Amino acid sequence: MALNLKLEVNAGGVAMKNPVATASGTAGYGDAYAEFYHPAELGALVTKGISLEPRLGNPTPRMAETPAGMLNAIGLENVGLKVFLNEKLPPLRNSGVTVVVNFFGNTEDEYARLAETLSSALGVAGLEANISCPNIKAGGIEFGTDPQVAGKLVTRIKAVCAKPLWVKLSPNVTDIVAVAKAVEQAGADAISAINTLKGMAIDLDERQPILANVTGGLSGPAIKPIALRMVYEIARAVKIPVVGIGGITSARDALEFIVAGASVVQIGTASFVDPRAPIQIIAGIKSWMREHHVESIQEIIGTLKRP
Ligand SMILES: Cc1cc2nc3c(=O)[nH]c(=O)nc-3n(C[C@H](O)[C@H](O)[C@H](O)COP(=O)(O)O)c2cc1C
Repeated sequence: MALNLKLEVNAGGVAMKNPVATASGTAGYGDAYAEFYHPAELGALVTKGISLEPRLGNPTPRMAETPAGMLNAIGLENVGLKVFLNEKLPPLRNSGVTVVVNFFGNTEDEYARLAETLSSALGVAGLEANISCPNIKAGGIEFGTDPQVAGKLVTRIKAVCAKPLWVKLSPNVTDIVAVAKAVEQAGADAISAINTLKGMAIDLDERQPILANVTGGLSGPAIKPIALRMVYEIARAVKIPVVGIGGITSARDALEFIVAGASVVQIGTASFVDPRAPIQIIAGIKSWMREHHVESIQEIIGTLKRP
């Protein structure tokens, strides 16, 4: 009997036609993969991180390949709030994709101003606050590394945010569950985990770091086991939905995160290898559901059997 597959999910108030989204910074403002697929095929598109003012990012070289992933020290380059609202958001809105806007600031005030403006813009389904990027020297990292500071920031953002708020956590902490609980308590609607892990690469013969910034964020398959473990631990500790991110390159990877407790998954570095990765993953999830007689994706969220 043919199954009538249901892929719809709802992550803290963001309704999505399927559980697969792009990860911030890896799909631009929705224009990056236009020749490879229509953005409306995605469950959601998470934009590059937006700041109040435009940013040029860090000096080059700012990318380095590693055996099972990549290091980046882009430094949150982006067009800034004004250009995003005037030039980038309108075509994205018209494409019909569910838009989640990733954003970051250097102070609580900046986060609040961004959240207020972005969440009232037409065509924005939700926001994702990046409190975790390891690449900038001021701002982001301090907020995400301390549960109390993170909670205070989220309380401030929530007070002015008119749309669902996903809070994206840093894995560069001793106890990610403590941060997750603090942001849940402060009113986050969902938790995105994880951002990149801080790493470095060296050119031995030159005895120099490969990245001009010395350190960068590690992403790709290398981080998948860590991300999976963190998503599993967070999902067991909080009641709000979890958005799983980190090294997902196949439908099986995505389904592992879902079984571990993620309601949504994001695809980042895999899109640099195959620009159609998110679309292949959606198709692969459907095939797996058919094979395993799973009619609704929601049936398997967080259903990991424990030994
Ligand atoms: C080039 C690049 C740029 C990124 N920019 C952002 C960003 O602006 N904001 C953010 O929250 N995460 C950013 N990230 C982190 C990703 O969204 C994601 O959390 C991380 O790469 C892990 O997923 P992956 O292994 O599937 O790439 C960036 C990652 C890469 C590789």
